[in-house]
Amino acid sequence: MKEKTKLAVLISGRGSNLKAIIDAIKNGYLDNVELKVVIANKEAPGLKYAKDEGIPTYIVPRIVNGKKIAREEHDKKVMKILEKYQVDLICMAGYLQILTPKFIERYRNRIMNIHPSILPAFPGTTRAQKKAVEYGVKISGCTVHFADEGVDTGPIIIQAAVPVKDNDTEETLANRILEFEHIIYPKAIKMFSEGRLRVVGRKVYIKKEIRVRKVISYSFNREKIVKIMNQIGVSSEILNNFLDKIQTFVLLVEDITPREATILKQEMLALGGDCAVPKECVLNGLIPLNVLLIGNKKQLKKLVSKLKNQPFDLPKVGDKIKHIIGDG
Ligand code: GRF
Repeated sequence: MKEKTKLAVLISGRGSNLKAIIDAIKNGYLDNVELKVVIANKEAPGLKYAKDEGIPTYIVPRIVNGKKIAREEHDKKVMKILEKYQVDLICMAGYLQILTPKFIERYRNRIMNIHPSILPAFPGTTRAQKKAVEYGVKISGCTVHFADEGVDTGPIIIQAAVPVKDNDTEETLANRILEFEHIIYPKAIKMFSEGRLRVVGRKVYIKKEIRVRKVISYSFNREKIVKIMNQIGVSSEILNNFLDKIQTFVLLVEDITPREATILKQEMLALGGDCAVPKECVLNGLIPLNVLLIGNKKQLKKLVSKLKNQPFDLPKVGDKIKHIIGDG
């Protein structure tokens, strides 16, 4: 496995995105990421999430003796800490400060930021959700992007669309968007840690790699069943059909789109199996995700033949499932 990505998170406030990142590391989603340090530019309540996990935290105050110190001077102090921990990736999560060009240059395409709007709408404000409500947009959302010299202008990695309701206030919309921030930020970090992000000019290309892995396969006592079936005189066709029903698979299908996941779920439910999908599946987007299929061999064989006629990359998913469950 690739060496772990050494991550630093910069915060100024409540730290719910920091918490989402820590949770994703703890539950194994970010299995290739190590949070080395969390830095705040003031007493930030969110630091507690790092402290609780024994992750080193620093406060590099922007305001010293009642006076704001120069950005250059402040960034220099922060960069010194980042050098100490030899970080590969820096995530700004509610970090209310614009980084100096020197900082950006040192970590070009290795600094991420999250913004609560679909950029380039409503940039450069801490109240993008208020602006969205006031403007009357029907869809808002959130964006994870690489930081460049501008404010909220860097190459976009991932976005989630979130509907705006007629009776939304800044607060209700912010809460709805926040739920998706907590999904897409760990996702962007995961893709970075897997070396799947390639930046060309303003564009971030995401490498897609569909995989199907066997998590569990379980079969009842095959010999015993065959013996009894032979004793009672079952034909070989019925016997094989029956045996396909007693072998159950749990398969992890990785890196498919929400549309592909939705079709897989529909097909598996129609066949009497099931497909567990993550909640971001309801997003109308191209954000890659993983699903867990459960079905017996008979159902999965049928699924393979159905997927041949399905759109997108689903025939490819079918081929991979066929390879795992075998032909027999
Ligand atoms: C989030 O809405 C984020 O998009 C914005 O600042 C807020 C930070 O929230 N940049 P939290 O501190 O992560 O809870």
